Amino acid sequence: MSFSFSRDAIEELRSQIDIVDVIGRSVQLKRAGANYKGLCPFHNEKTPSFIVSPQKQIFTCFGGCGASGDAVEFVKRYYNLDFNEAVQKLADEYGITIKRNTYNDDREKYYEINRQAARFFYKNMTESKNPGYTYMHNRGIEDKTIKKFGLGYAKDSWSDLYDYFKEKNIDEKILLELGLISQKGDRFFDKFRNRVMFPIINTAGKVIGFGGRALDNEAMPKYLNSPENKIFQKKNNLYALNATRQEIGKEGAAIIVEGYMDAISLYQGGVKNVAASLGTALTENQAKLINRYTKNVILSYDADAAGQKAALRGIDVLKNENCKVKVLHVTDGKDPDEYIKKNGREGFLNLVDKAMPYTDYKLQAAKRGLDLSGEEGKIDYMKRIAGILSELGPVEADVYIKKIAGDVGISEGAIKMEILGNNNTKETDNRHAVQKNIRKEEKKDGLSTLEATVIKCLFIDPCLSEKVVEYSDMFESDLGRKIIDTAFEMYGLEGDFDKYRIIDKLEPEESEKLEESLEKIIVTGNENDVIKQCIHRWKFNQLERKEKELMDMLLLADESNKSALEELTVNLMKIQKEMKAHGGKM
Ligand code: UTP
Ligand code: MN
Repeated sequence: MSFSFSRDAIEELRSQIDIVDVIGRSVQLKRAGANYKGLCPFHNEKTPSFIVSPQKQIFTCFGGCGASGDAVEFVKRYYNLDFNEAVQKLADEYGITIKRNTYNDDREKYYEINRQAARFFYKNMTESKNPGYTYMHNRGIEDKTIKKFGLGYAKDSWSDLYDYFKEKNIDEKILLELGLISQKGDRFFDKFRNRVMFPIINTAGKVIGFGGRALDNEAMPKYLNSPENKIFQKKNNLYALNATRQEIGKEGAAIIVEGYMDAISLYQGGVKNVAASLGTALTENQAKLINRYTKNVILSYDADAAGQKAALRGIDVLKNENCKVKVLHVTDGKDPDEYIKKNGREGFLNLVDKAMPYTDYKLQAAKRGLDLSGEEGKIDYMKRIAGILSELGPVEADVYIKKIAGDVGISEGAIKMEILGNNNTKETDNRHAVQKNIRKEEKKDGLSTLEATVIKCLFIDPCLSEKVVEYSDMFESDLGRKIIDTAFEMYGLEGDFDKYRIIDKLEPEESEKLEESLEKIIVTGNENDVIKQCIHRWKFNQLERKEKELMDMLLLADESNKSALEELTVNLMKIQKEMKAHGGKM
């Protein structure tokens, strides 16, 4: 029996509870203007950036963890419940009776049949000599691993499993739906034949499907998987997670591999914090699932091009769920299974230590196929990496820019221009457009990364306005100016403001742009320091701009007008000296 609530019942509950009270029971909240704020319970922070809006009845973390939602969402996350459980908990706590729809859930019947099939295959594997066992044994799989993962064997027969269920009077329709049997005319036959069976078990311990490995390398497909059905959706599950989630929690990291064999082989080799995404690129739901146990994910895909491509896509999916992502590259053998067999646990852990932060990985992947010793190669490389760098926060971007400049031999200034170009113009084809557009870009309607970063910090702590006010020239875009003027006005009048009240003063497109820009910014560390860095960076940008201007003028100047040339040169030197005194970028 399962239960759910009707939409009306949930609306009724929502109207009777107050989010400030709900959250206030677990998080210490302080009034901040129209809102309340406190330390975000969903990530570690020292300065409060967790805002609760009584007007909108929502919470939002501006500290980078991205948590946001209504009271039900809060309870769901805070107590690790599913939606219905969270609704029930709130109703209980506030003494609200809401109608519960109970319904008969026939999914249990499907789980049970799969469980019986798994036991059947397991018996085939373990109770007498069979080709499946020999195959796994030859691949180095030990008895205890077979037991741990419930690995089985489907005999080379057309009706071994079908006969078993027929005797138990199990409905053929369900067996067909589960993909355990197939039908031709009025004849039924086993779907999995002469395969090693990997039961796929969800975190609730239910057998939701199977993967069957052919023994013969010629047989197609190599792995036959259960079809999608009402209890099995590949995109919502990770293989082995049922057995490894405690280890993942304990280690504080999950190693995500492609295949069944990778997962069980690492596990057997003593690297137990592993799960497999089952051949596909990681999905959003799989990322959410991992996120329940850890934020740290190490992608360990096959060494081939397909695996590396899947890693690149996986990075973006995981970043969207606010995971910290690293990429591990197997250097010996084609996949983690082969690697750990050759190099053992120590060898694999060595690779884990050396796993690359995802930005390094992307930057490295962007080098592929380019000759970086030549001009063309360098220019193409910059085009490729501009997008990667423009997604980083200012501090991080700066670290990488320095690295790349040294590594590839491109000046830091040139890389920065390329990023600006990437952020603000679509004319990436035109290599010379970038410079011309530096000024034009500020007239565009979005926020620059710098503006968005400062605004995000101000939303976290409006008092920082006092520091920013004298640098309001930093806000060069129309939207940036409008937001900062509104914010300073509110601060001047009431000593406070918040995002929602500012949004009230914006046009819908403008607030959409604002949200979009804020979403891209992750403020790590103290907002005060971040703002300081932004101001510093802005001052430096100003100097850089001036330098550029003077250099352009020098290039165009009339060679015969010595005094004009001299004046320009002196000014240029002054600027360059100032830049030096400024201590570089940050
Ligand atoms: P691989 O082809 O890399 O297989 O597919 P593998 O894991 O190394 O398998 P072994 O070592 O040859 O036994 C990776 C994963 O892609 C899915 C499976 O989940 C597999 O583990 N896959 C692959 C399929 O679903 N069907 C296939 O035919 C092949
Ligand atoms: Mn393999």
